[in-house]
Amino acid sequence: MTSSNHIRQSFLDFFAGQNHTPIASAPLIPQQDPTLMFVNAGMVPFKNIFTGLEAAPAPRATSSQKCVRAGGKHNDLDNVGYTARHHTFFEMLGNFSFGDYFKEEAIVHAWELLTKVWELPADKLTATVYHEDDEAFDLWRKISGLPEERIIRIATNDNFWSMGDTGPCGPCSEIFYDHGEHIAGGPPGSPDEDGDRFVEIWNLVFMQYERDSSGEMTPLPKPSIDTGMGLERIAAVMQGVHNNYDTDTFTQLISASANLVGAAQNDEQLASHRVIADHLRACSFLMADGVLPANEGRGYVLRRIMRRAMRHAHLLGAADPLMHQLVPVLVGEMGQAFPELARAQPLISETLRREEEKFRQTLDKGLKLLGEASGDLQEGDELDGTIAFKLYDTYGFPYDLTEDALRADGISVDKAGFDAAMAQQKAAARAAWKGSGETASEDIWFDIADEHGSTEFTGYTGLKGDGQVVALVRDGQRVEKLSKGETGVMIVNQTPFYAESGGQEGDRGVVTADNGFAAKVDDVAKPLGRLHAHQLTVEAGAIAVNDTVSLTVDVLRRDELRANHSATHLLHAALRNHLGAHVTQKGSLVAQDKLRFDFSHPQAMTADEIDAVQAEVNVQLRGNADVTTRLMSPDDAVEAGALALFGEKYGDEVRVLSMGLDDDADYSVELCGGTHVRALGDIGLFHIISESAVSGGVRRIEALTGEAARQYLVDRETGLQTVASTLRTGPDEAVARVAALVEERKQLTEELATAKKALALAGDGGGAAQPAEDETIGNVRYRGRVISGLNPKDLRGLLDEAKQEMGSGVAAIVAVNDGRAALAVGVTQDLTGTVDAVALVRAGVEVMGGKGGGGRPDMAQGGGPDGDKADAALDAVRQTLVASN
Ligand code: ALA
Repeated sequence: MTSSNHIRQSFLDFFAGQNHTPIASAPLIPQQDPTLMFVNAGMVPFKNIFTGLEAAPAPRATSSQKCVRAGGKHNDLDNVGYTARHHTFFEMLGNFSFGDYFKEEAIVHAWELLTKVWELPADKLTATVYHEDDEAFDLWRKISGLPEERIIRIATNDNFWSMGDTGPCGPCSEIFYDHGEHIAGGPPGSPDEDGDRFVEIWNLVFMQYERDSSGEMTPLPKPSIDTGMGLERIAAVMQGVHNNYDTDTFTQLISASANLVGAAQNDEQLASHRVIADHLRACSFLMADGVLPANEGRGYVLRRIMRRAMRHAHLLGAADPLMHQLVPVLVGEMGQAFPELARAQPLISETLRREEEKFRQTLDKGLKLLGEASGDLQEGDELDGTIAFKLYDTYGFPYDLTEDALRADGISVDKAGFDAAMAQQKAAARAAWKGSGETASEDIWFDIADEHGSTEFTGYTGLKGDGQVVALVRDGQRVEKLSKGETGVMIVNQTPFYAESGGQEGDRGVVTADNGFAAKVDDVAKPLGRLHAHQLTVEAGAIAVNDTVSLTVDVLRRDELRANHSATHLLHAALRNHLGAHVTQKGSLVAQDKLRFDFSHPQAMTADEIDAVQAEVNVQLRGNADVTTRLMSPDDAVEAGALALFGEKYGDEVRVLSMGLDDDADYSVELCGGTHVRALGDIGLFHIISESAVSGGVRRIEALTGEAARQYLVDRETGLQTVASTLRTGPDEAVARVAALVEERKQLTEELATAKKALALAGDGGGAAQPAEDETIGNVRYRGRVISGLNPKDLRGLLDEAKQEMGSGVAAIVAVNDGRAALAVGVTQDLTGTVDAVALVRAGVEVMGGKGGGGRPDMAQGGGPDGDKADAALDAVRQTLVASN
C-alpha cells in the first residue's frame, strides 16, 4: 500500500523534478490576511505574490499545506464524521506558477503525475472546465486524449475559484476520480452529481483576476497557476478505498481509539471514531502552531472542536480522558513530515488531557439537562435558544455541540434565541463593571474590549502578520484616523507584537499599509490585561479604523528579549539550587539590553556563590535543551513543580514553561506568558554584572546574555590590556604588578611621613620666615614652627616628641594644608600650672579666622581657614605666652 507519507513525498518530488521549489507548509494562522481565521487552501501563503504585492521566492513552487476549515467562509465542522470526505484539518498538495507557466503546462503536469507516475487508469478520470473556457477544453482534449463527454463544461461557481470574498481568483478545471459503479452518484454536472461515486481529487485554478470588496475583478499582473489536491482524497484513491477515513493515517488513529475505549467500530460508533480522529488532527496541529483553547477567537474555535470530539469520546463510553492518549499515534504518523507537531507534543498532550478532564466534570450534567429539555421534542422541532445558552454558559457546551447532539434526532436549535441570551449576558456584565468606579480612561479600553473582544496575540510563533484596525485613540479620545506626524494608540484584532507584561518589555517595530501608511511602534502596553495597545508615531500617510495593516516586530530586539527572559528563569532556578528554597522572585525586568531579577535572600552573595550560579546557568545553555510550553490549570501547574508567582492573578489556564535538564527532570518550570527561546543554546552566554541590595532581605542581580554579555567581557578584557600596557607588562602579570605597586606606594607614603616629621623636628620645617632656634620667654623655653603639607593628625605625635626632647617648655606647630591651617600647642607637665595650652591655641586660632580650639592644659588643638596667617598665628601664641609670664 502506498502510504500517505509516501504520496506526499512523491508529489513534492515530482514537482521538484519539474523545477518547482519545495516550500514548507506555512503555519495555520494566516500571516497575511487578518480576515481569514485559518489557512484554508495551499495558495493562502502566496496570496500577496499572486496579486503582485510581494516578489515570488521562485517562479515555481510546490507545497503540502496544512489547512483547517472550521470557521469563516469554508467551515466543514458540522459535517465531519457523517460524510466520507469532510475534515476540519487536511493537507492540500499544490503546485504554483507565479506568472511562469499557465494552463497548458499545468494540465500537462497534472496528467503526467496522475497517469504516468501514479499510474491511475485514464478511464477512471474526468475533467471539468468553466463553461466559457474553450482554451482549457481544447487543451484537455489535446493533452489527455479524454473523450469529449469526459471533459465537462460547468457554468457554476464550482469552476470559478476564489479564496474569499476578495482576493485572487479565476476559472478552474477539476479532475474527478470514478470510484466505481457500486457507489451511487453521477458525473459532475449531472442531476445526481451529489452522489459519492465521482470524487474531485484535484483542482487546477487558472488565477487571472483579483476581486475587490465591491466585487469588481481586475486582471492580475501575470496569469498564474494554483492547484490543490487533498492528500486524504488521493490517498483513498491510491489505497483502493472509497472513504478518506479508511486510509492509513485515519485507520491507525481509529483503531487506537477503539482499543483504548474498548468500543467496536460498528456503524453508529464509527461516526464518533471518525470525529475523534479528525478533530485530534485539527486540535494538535492548531496547538503546534500556537493556538491554545480560549473563550474567544481562534482559541474558541479550537475549544469547540475539542469539546465536540470529547463528547463523542463520552458517547463511546470512554472511562478516562481519551484524546491525549492518541497524541503519540498521531505524532508517529505525521511527526516526521511536520516536526513542529513532534516538538509541541507535551503541550498538545497536557492541554488535551486537562481540557477533557475539565469538560467531563460538567458533560454529564449538561447532557442530562439537554435530555430533559429535548425529551418531548419530535423530529423537525426546535430546542429553545435559552436552553442552548444555559448549556453554553453553565456546562461549557459550545453552540455547535448542542446542535451536534440533537442532530441524530432531527431536532434543530433556535439560534436567534441563543444569540439574544448571549447579548443580554454581555450587557449585564458590562453594567456590573461600569458601576465599579473604573476611571474614564479605562472606560475607553472597556468599550473597545466589549465591542471587539481581546486582541489575539499571534507572536508566540510569528513576528510578522496582518491585523485589522478596530480602534484608534489619540489624547485619550477615540478617533477615526491617525495621520502623518501624529502619535496615538492603535488596537487591531490580532498582532504579533508582545505587550508589556510579566516584567517583559513590549515589542517595537513598524506598521505599514498598502495605502502608503507607515508608522513606528514605540511601545506596546496591555490595558485590561487583554488589549495590545500599540503606541504609534505616524511617519507617512494615514490609517483609519477597519483598515488592514501589516505589523512587523523588530526581530533583533525580540530575540534579545527572549534570551533575557529565558535566562531569567534559569537564573531563578540556579539561585534556588545554590542559596536555598527560600529564594523567591520579588520582581523582574526583562529588557532588551539586560535582565534584572530581585529575590528574597538575607545577605549579600559571595563571589563564589555568584560564580557558581553563573556557571550553572551556562551549563544549561550548553546543554541546549528545547524549551517546552504547556497549558494547564494554575493548580496543576503548581503540582507539576511550577514556581508560582504569588500575588499575580491567573485565569483558568496558565502557560507553563519548562526548560533545561537536571538529571532527567526539568531544570526550571515556571508559569509565564512571556516569549522565550526555542532551545537554550539560543541564549549563547550568560553573565552576571552586579549583585546588590534592594531593601532588607531583598537582593538584586543584573545580568547580560548573548552578544551583550560577550561585548561586556570584551570591554573588560580591553580594559585589562590597557592597564597591562600602562604597567608595561602582560595581562597575566598585571594583577601581581598592581599588588606590588600598591605595597610600594604604602611604604613610600610611610617613608615620606617619617621624613617630614624628621624635617619638622630638625628645626626648619620648610615653612615661611620663623625663628630657627628655640627662644626663652621669661623662664620658659618656647619653640614655634610652621610646617606645610603636614597632615594635622600627625601634629599631636610631633608635639609629644618635641616636649620630650625639650624636657621643659612650650611648643606650637601650625600645619598648613590646602590653604587651611591647624594649630597645636603642647606644654610640658611641669609648666601646666602657669601656662595653659588651651589659651595659647585660642589666641592663635582667632588670628587664622577660626573659632575656639580646645584640649587640655598640656595639649590643645584648633584650626582656621586662613592658612596664610600661619606666622601671625604663631606670633599671637608667642605674645600670649609673653603676656602670661
Ligand atoms: N486554491 C484551490 C482550492 O483550494 C486550488 O481548491
